[in-house]
Amino acid sequence: MEWFGDNDGVETWQEVVLVYTAALRQIETKMEILNEEFQHVHQYNPIEHIKSRIKTPESIVKKLKRHGLESSIENMVNHVNDIAGIRIICSFTSDIYRIADMIEKQKDIQVLTVKDYIMFPKTSGYKSYHMIVTVPVYLSDKTVDTKVEIQIRTVAMDFWASLEHKIHYKFEGDAPEHIRQELVDCAHLVSDLDEKMLQLNDEILELSHIQELEREAQEAKERQERIDEIERRKQEQQAADPAGA
Ligand code: GTP
Ligand code: MG
Repeated sequence: MEWFGDNDGVETWQEVVLVYTAALRQIETKMEILNEEFQHVHQYNPIEHIKSRIKTPESIVKKLKRHGLESSIENMVNHVNDIAGIRIICSFTSDIYRIADMIEKQKDIQVLTVKDYIMFPKTSGYKSYHMIVTVPVYLSDKTVDTKVEIQIRTVAMDFWASLEHKIHYKFEGDAPEHIRQELVDCAHLVSDLDEKMLQLNDEILELSHIQELEREAQEAKERQERIDEIERRKQEQQAADPAGA
């Protein structure tokens, strides 16, 4: 790894990996806790699953080169915001904003930038909610505020993005026009699907809420009937034996 220069040997790179891995683990744990708490309070999991990765040294160097920067640890840490990346996949678009909100509310997480490609999709059709945040990593002799790129998207958006990514790679970013257009059309289908699924889910939730209310009303009615029955028997007894002998 001599491309990091003479002063930064493998040990420094290893430290970088260690710090970013710790940052990823922290965010992942936070997300798991929030998901469990949400399940406890609302009987529902907003997060389907989480994927995380550390960018390979090769792609970090490629990115630095693309920005005309030398390959040094300093440049990596300062200019590459997605060395540590985490992808949070959820069922519904509304979950995305719920999760983003929960992340913003975490006291030790600092949000540096937000890109809302759901409200403003890319021309490719790409939809996702991106946040660059920092999380403190506590080492024995220092605390390092470490950058993590968080991408939040639905299962359907993720399906589209992974296919589009493969096609992008296959054609080295120069896919034929008709394929690009088909992908944009598919992105619209994905948005429609997400919207329909959300509507359906809302309807199901509303129905189960109504059923719950009906069940409670039925239980209250049965309770009242039992009380009335006891009362009626008491009165019958009193009528048969007014002296209570
Ligand atoms: P990068 O240099 O690619 O990291 O982009 P950026 O720093 O301008 O940030 P941006 O938020 O645009 O993109 C960050 C990441 O989002 C990318 O590395 C991809 O993982 C993903 N992404 C962005 N645009 C697209 C797209 O059109 N298609 C797919 N499949 N993924 C995308
Ligand atoms: Mg990237």
